[in-house]
Amino acid sequence: MSNSGGNVDTVMLEKRLFPPPAEFAAKAKIGSLEEYQKLYELAAVDPVAFWDGLAKTELHWFEPYTKTLEWNPPFAKWFVGGKTNASYNCLDRHLDGPRRNKAAIIWEGEPGDQRTLTYQQLHREVCKFANVLKARGLAAGDVVSIYMPMTPELVIAMLACARIGAVHSVIFAGFSAEAIAERNNDAQARMVITSDGLWRRGKLLPLKEAVDQALAKSPTVESVIVLRRVGNDVNMQAGRDYWWQEQMDEASADCPATPLDSEHSLYILYTSGSTGKPKGIRHTTAGYNLFVKKTFEWVFDYRDEDIFWCTADCGWVTGHSYVVYGPLSAGATVLMYEGALNFPAEDRTWDIIERYGVNVLYTAPTAIRACIKWGDAHVEKHDLSSLRLLGTVGEGINPEAWMWYHRVVGKERCPIVDTWWQTETGGIMMSPLPGAIPTKPGSCTKPLPGILPQVVDERGNEVDRHHGGWLTITHPWPGMLRGIWGDDERYAKTYWSRIPGKYLAGDNARLDDDGYFWIMGRIDDVINVSGHRLSTIEVESALVSHPNVAEAAAVGRPDDLKGQAIAVFVTLKNAEPDEALKQELKLHVRKEIGALAQPDDIHFTNALPKTRSGKIMRRLLRDVACGKESTGDTSTLEDYTVLARLRAEEE
Ligand code: PRX
Repeated sequence: MSNSGGNVDTVMLEKRLFPPPAEFAAKAKIGSLEEYQKLYELAAVDPVAFWDGLAKTELHWFEPYTKTLEWNPPFAKWFVGGKTNASYNCLDRHLDGPRRNKAAIIWEGEPGDQRTLTYQQLHREVCKFANVLKARGLAAGDVVSIYMPMTPELVIAMLACARIGAVHSVIFAGFSAEAIAERNNDAQARMVITSDGLWRRGKLLPLKEAVDQALAKSPTVESVIVLRRVGNDVNMQAGRDYWWQEQMDEASADCPATPLDSEHSLYILYTSGSTGKPKGIRHTTAGYNLFVKKTFEWVFDYRDEDIFWCTADCGWVTGHSYVVYGPLSAGATVLMYEGALNFPAEDRTWDIIERYGVNVLYTAPTAIRACIKWGDAHVEKHDLSSLRLLGTVGEGINPEAWMWYHRVVGKERCPIVDTWWQTETGGIMMSPLPGAIPTKPGSCTKPLPGILPQVVDERGNEVDRHHGGWLTITHPWPGMLRGIWGDDERYAKTYWSRIPGKYLAGDNARLDDDGYFWIMGRIDDVINVSGHRLSTIEVESALVSHPNVAEAAAVGRPDDLKGQAIAVFVTLKNAEPDEALKQELKLHVRKEIGALAQPDDIHFTNALPKTRSGKIMRRLLRDVACGKESTGDTSTLEDYTVLARLRAEEE
């Protein structure tokens, strides 16, 4: 890890505070700061007893557990000896009451086709597909790769795996054949579930073709199930490939959920390491299920009548936890959209919200920044009065982008929950509870009940308030990853070796006077200027507060005098790049946060390199800033041409 050393300086002075609107707080399940504090303290005194109390009632147990937590650092087992089933908790549990005929999924395809599945219908489809899996010889413990568009069948496939104890590994349907093969092989997948193709901005992407190429290098895969989605010609290999629809026609709708051990693997999700091969993050059944259910209910102040829209794809953890397992185990109605948020026009998001009456919108800062760039008019032409709550996930949100979300989308009426978590944490770890915790733009505010974060220096000692340091979690929690698939050593080394006994998140953070957490970016991204360790987000937020800046990324490059100099990459709105603007931006940062943080180099660019989930890949920009070829894993890069263009723009 570069830039080791814990402490990070802060230069950001964000003082705005937004208490929960009185009307919102009055109706919220947790409606005051005192209530949150009481719950938090209760949980902090004895987290094990706290989670034990919840697990008993929040999940269905085929057999009760005998021990709440078994902790042999860094290996945790929660609810030891119990038997449950995540598919049962998401579906069967709702069938005896009024939720039976409630919409579980309201779906819209990119071309505009629509479907609604009630809990009863979804249950039936999942049971049938679970029988399809069984007919192909799958059983508990087998790994299934899922490479599909955001259709209801993707959720059906996940829940059908969970029903019989097969372990799903969802691979984002934009990844290459190489990436599929690598994941198939690492997990020893026995089956791939895919579709003929998918729609993306009106164009057809041939998914089955990518799977065919991957299978030439995936010796463990025995069968493929193919959903017809777009109707293109596909190659079907007899004895290996089967049509989803044909298999479903023959399948029985009777498939009781298999009672599974609490620690049975529910899924693997590959996440890219900064170097080396992707890590298969392993989540298990009971603890994960409990954690995503409760965090969903707390953070989104869940109400039965809500339509909840999380715009994430199920190829990411956000889709797993807050499209599928969290909301469905809570009995919520989830809106699911298949396509691009700017197709056929830049108002698709707002159009969907208006037409379905969406109440809660959960999206990523990258999407918000894109909307800002496209212009307010797209938002303003729609009636968004159904919205009551907004959320963000995946990256820090720059305060000015937060203010735009608050003003233009939320009409200063909707609280914003800025949720900090990771693929590894399984669910939301820090976030405002919208009826209880006043928000500050750019802060994820406070930890959720049962979560004990601490900001430490490199020796593991807690740092003072206002000092940035490494973010750790000091007590195991039910949703935590249980390991890296097939690589316990890498798991122990990556997350638990630097600060023994504490989970190292890999992010820097600081606490302010009110005990609010501010995430300062990845540890590896810190910029060290003349011995001052600056966080990327603070420099970027200063730039984004300039009216002509749409997006910004800050990185360090070697400098003989200062150790590192600050190089920033900027995309513009309503302005043409020129020298005068460069000077203006340098001075703007100087004025906003100080001379120390004034960028040395400003690179204007049309786009920033991002992962497919929308995160800026600063590591690659670092190479561009110092004129190096990029090494390491780029399989998650959204658009390879961005890098080439950035280099060309340098020349
Ligand atoms: O650096 C943090 C950033 O995203 C990382 C986790 O990424 P991933 O595993 O892909 O999970 C994304 C969905 C949860 C974190 O280590 N991150 C995520 N949310 C925030 C954030 N940074 C600042 N603020 C957030 N709200």
